[in-house]
Amino acid sequence: PGGGWTTTRPPGSAGVARDPFDGMRQVRDLYDRVLQLHRDLGLVESGPVAEVEVDRDGCEAQGAAEVQSLDKHVAQHQGLHSAMRAVGLELRSSDVLVEVGAGRGRLALGLLQRSSALPAGVVLVERDKARPRNTADAAIADLLADHFPRPSEKRPRRVEAPSPSTSPALLQRLELDVRHLDLGGVSMPGYSPSAGPSSFVVVCKHLCGVGADLAIHMVQRQKHLVRGLCFATCCHHHCQWEDYAGKTWWTESIGMAPADFALAAKCSSWASLRPEPAKDRDLASTRDSKALPSAIALQYAERRFFGRACKSLIDLGRVNGLRMSGFPSACLQRYCESGVTVENTALLAWQQQQQEQEHQEEQELAQELGEQEHQENQELAQEEEEQELEEQQQQQQQQEE
Ligand SMILES: C[S@@+](CC[C@H](N)C(=O)[O-])C[C@H]1O[C@@H](n2cnc3c(N)ncnc32)[C@H](O)[C@@H]1O
Repeated sequence: PGGGWTTTRPPGSAGVARDPFDGMRQVRDLYDRVLQLHRDLGLVESGPVAEVEVDRDGCEAQGAAEVQSLDKHVAQHQGLHSAMRAVGLELRSSDVLVEVGAGRGRLALGLLQRSSALPAGVVLVERDKARPRNTADAAIADLLADHFPRPSEKRPRRVEAPSPSTSPALLQRLELDVRHLDLGGVSMPGYSPSAGPSSFVVVCKHLCGVGADLAIHMVQRQKHLVRGLCFATCCHHHCQWEDYAGKTWWTESIGMAPADFALAAKCSSWASLRPEPAKDRDLASTRDSKALPSAIALQYAERRFFGRACKSLIDLGRVNGLRMSGFPSACLQRYCESGVTVENTALLAWQQQQQEQEHQEEQELAQELGEQEHQENQELAQEEEEQELEEQQQQQQQQEE
């Protein structure tokens, strides 16, 4: 691989540094530190061409021919479902599935189609007011309304509006920024927050950059309601420090500064650099060799690696943020081959069995206390009624006398 800085500037660096090498030196310095960190954290076996190592359990092998014949979205839904199932996040009938940054809602449909149990309801959260064409809403609502059997694998029907059989209560589409999502306010026919023991499973596919951080904060605020989450992250160059969910890890554990985060976020877009045609490569290397000291030049493979490494570091901070806030199981998983999408990392977190049990016991206790209170109220009302009746009888007796 050839090519250096002159063909691809550090994203967003145009016009920032007066000395053209200053910005490049900063990037080179960050590259060296990130490379060292990846070695220290055991994330790479060797050099820049090695794949970042994440837990591959639950990924279904997809050969090139298979990938070609499968719709890429379908392959991703399949991979995310496998990853969820591997950690016990297969949907249950007591769950409410929430897809954030839902777009057409196709991930929710894909998960429903692969699950042996249907959840009590589905909530699609999408910030954009313009509803996309061909949403999966009607197909989801039909599935929920029919409550089995599972249809065969197929792309959602073309629907512009929910079909007459749509039950808005089983499927809810909220036009909302995920940062304002109040899970406690969701109510379904088969579920209400006070009735327990239902719980939310929150998913997203490619909720860009900062959106994933906002979704993490939303889950952290309401973790008593969440059984687990599976977020396929993407577009890390849209992340911003103010909302980042892994600030403590970033600064205290790996000793990076907020400014490093901004640069890492920008450089993360190199993960999807396309191979340069040989012609451009030759030109670039000629220009580079004249313009750029080799100590700070980054080759094409190094830039691609650096982009992926920056994404991984940003995601690892998010994992740590979740681990620190009641999801000790949080981890990263590669859920499909990079030929399907380069954004193939999922962040998973789930309540441990013990936590789940405690949560369920708490809810049952609350329910019991609620029932007890109800019974006490009824007894009180009956006593009052009897007393009233007695008073009436006494009055009547006095009048007769
Ligand atoms: C790249 S699209 C992915 C759509 C869909 N999940 C898919 O895989 O096809 C990201 C979606 O997330 C939505 N989004 C981004 N930030 C959001 C936020 N803060 N709250 C809710 N939705 C958001 C966008 O409007 C967009 O529809």
